[in-house]
Amino acid sequence: TTERTLFLIKPDAMQRGLAGEIIARLERRGLKIVGMKLLRVTRELAERHYAEHVGKPFFPGLVEFITSAPVIAIAWEGQDAIKVVRATIGATNPVEAASGTVRADFGLDKGRNLVHASDGPESATRELALFFAPDELLSWDRDV
Ligand code: CMP
Repeated sequence: TTERTLFLIKPDAMQRGLAGEIIARLERRGLKIVGMKLLRVTRELAERHYAEHVGKPFFPGLVEFITSAPVIAIAWEGQDAIKVVRATIGATNPVEAASGTVRADFGLDKGRNLVHASDGPESATRELALFFAPDELLSWDRDV
């Protein structure tokens, strides 16, 4: 099934100049960008996006981190896009991420883990709506 998923290039990846490299890996797999923007995540957006983590010990640090520099938000579309993006970026903890994944190749820290990707169809719908207005998502055909 064709799916859309929300993807974030987090402040650590932006600070380290890894955005292009990370986008290239997903683009080359055949996924299609249907939405993209650079933004500074506000505290309010962070609290909505990470609502399920409110109250956890790492939550204050997570908000501090995600608001510390601009992020790139991308809506990816493609066959099984949710799974494909998560497989390409690897496990949340870079130490446990499979080799060849974004997090294993560039990361080491569970908090500063470079990227975020929706974990299922429901969170994809919810998270896409937080970051993109409907008219900011464009349908188009990739020929390859
Ligand atoms: P992400 O995929 O953006 O979703 C929730 C984030 O919380 C996760 O990536 C991690 O960056 C962060 N996170 C999860 N567990 C921990 C933890 N134990 N310590 C710090 N950050 C965490």
